[in-house]
Order: sequence, then structure tokens, then C-alpha cells
Amino acid sequence: MLVPRIFAPWAEVLLDHVVLAPGMRVLDVATGSGPVARCAARRIGLTGHVTATDIAAPMLDVARGKPPVEGGAPIAYVQSAAAPLRVESNTFDLVTCQQSLQFFPDRLAALREMKRALRPGGQLAVAVWTDIADNEWFTAIQKALRATLGAEAAAVIQAPFRWPNGEELKRAVEAAGFPNVRLSRMDGTLTFENGLEQAIAALVAMPIAPILATLSDATRQAFHQRLRDEARPLVKGVALIGKMASNVAIAAA
Ligand SMILES: C[S@@+](CC[C@H](N)C(=O)[O-])C[C@H]1O[C@@H](n2cnc3c(N)ncnc32)[C@H](O)[C@@H]1O
Repeated sequence: MLVPRIFAPWAEVLLDHVVLAPGMRVLDVATGSGPVARCAARRIGLTGHVTATDIAAPMLDVARGKPPVEGGAPIAYVQSAAAPLRVESNTFDLVTCQQSLQFFPDRLAALREMKRALRPGGQLAVAVWTDIADNEWFTAIQKALRATLGAEAAAVIQAPFRWPNGEELKRAVEAAGFPNVRLSRMDGTLTFENGLEQAIAALVAMPIAPILATLSDATRQAFHQRLRDEARPLVKGVALIGKMASNVAIAAA
């Protein structure tokens, strides 16, 4: 539900920031179900190679379960933390990390590992969401959670947006040894083409799902009703459309 609407389109945005050519070697750190890895595989073609790592075996199982990218590079999945990273040094033409750095316990160590993996002159591309206030559907969820379930539940939906400062991202990349970091803010939208009820159904794919699953019917209905109220401004015709924004840092090793 979320990969085709959020992570796959943003993978295209991220890779539009770098130079990709046939035969390149790409590393995608914290690949999740692999949207960036698959997008890169398609862009570098059959002669290239993608390595995709993630700390979570279940995420890699989902990624491995997808059909091969037609006409694309093979993808090798490796279970690994971001630091230490189980890949060879001085190997990759491009290292990517989409919407994951904010979760790492030691961001600087992870960025240093990405630098180690890159060949001299290789490119780094990192994306991290900006403030939750810039990401409208998530703001609506946060407000509804806070109003009906309290601050602790609201903090769960806020987690992906907890490192929103682009200048901090830039400084961290520089501290890892990358000179000339290019920072940009990218704006986009999240669309649920069938509207609010479809968006509410997609909550089962979010980290908040285990909390929602424990609610009584009455509490869940109260939360849904509050969410409908909060999200009403995002309803455009039959669709729900919310703005999203991400910082993107690009650098060369
Ligand atoms: C929001 S998902 C993003 C996944 C993917 N990059 C995408 O764009 O769809 C964050 C990913 O980071 C991974 N992750 C979290 N902490 C990690 C760590 N310390 N080392 C490596 N991966 C980690 C999670 O398992 C998850 O797959």
C-alpha cells in the first residue's frame, strides 16, 4: 500500500539527483522491500550490479520475493546493520540510503561506512523526510492519535520525521568525510486515489498498526472519526492528496 505510493516514486526522485550509467555497481543501505535497489537496477541495466542491505530479515524476505527487474541488474540482498556494514571497501559507484538514516542509532558511523564502501569519486545519495508538518497525511494521523490515544501513540507516527533539519543532515555527511555536499529539499505529494477510507485502510501498513490492533472498537472508531475530521482538507474530489517533503543530500567520495 505504501511502497507504490511513497517509497517507489521517491526512489525515482532520489536517483534523478545522481548520474547512473550501464554497468555501474550500486549499494542501497537499509533497502527495506527494495524500491531504490529495484529502481537503480532498472536504470543501470543488465550489465550492472546492485547490493541491497537491511538489518531486518523479514524486510529482505519481502524484497527477495519480488520478481526480478525486467532488463535490470541482478540484486544481491545482504542482511546487515548500517554500521558495521557487511560489504567490501572501495567498491561502489553509488551508495543510496532512502528514509532510513533517521532510524540508525549512530548516523555518523553509518555514513562513514557508506564512504568506505564507495570507490574514490563514487556518489552518495541520502534522503530524509523534513518536518512532519510538511507531510500532511502524517500530520493528520499524528493529531488524531494525540487527541484520542495520547502523546505516546502520536510519537510512533512522528518517528520517521524526527530528523528534519537539512543543515544537520549536510553537516553529518560532511563529518563522515564527504566534501562539497549538495543539499536540496524536494516536494511531492501522496495520493490515495480512492480517498480517505482507502488511506485509513492503509494504516495497517504503518508502524502504528500494532497499537491500533489493540484498541476496542469504540476507541478505534473515535480515532477514525477524528482522523476523518483532521484530513478533510486533503480530500480533493474522490482522492486524498497530501503534500510530502524530503531533504536530499548528494555528495562524492
Ligand atoms: C522506512 S524503511 C525505508 C526502506 C527503504 N529504504 C525504502 O525507501 O523503502 C527503513 C528501513 O531501515 C531499516 N533499518 C532500521 N534500522 C537499521 C539499522 N540500524 N541498520 C540497517 N537497517 C536499518 C529497517 O529495517 C527498514 O527496512
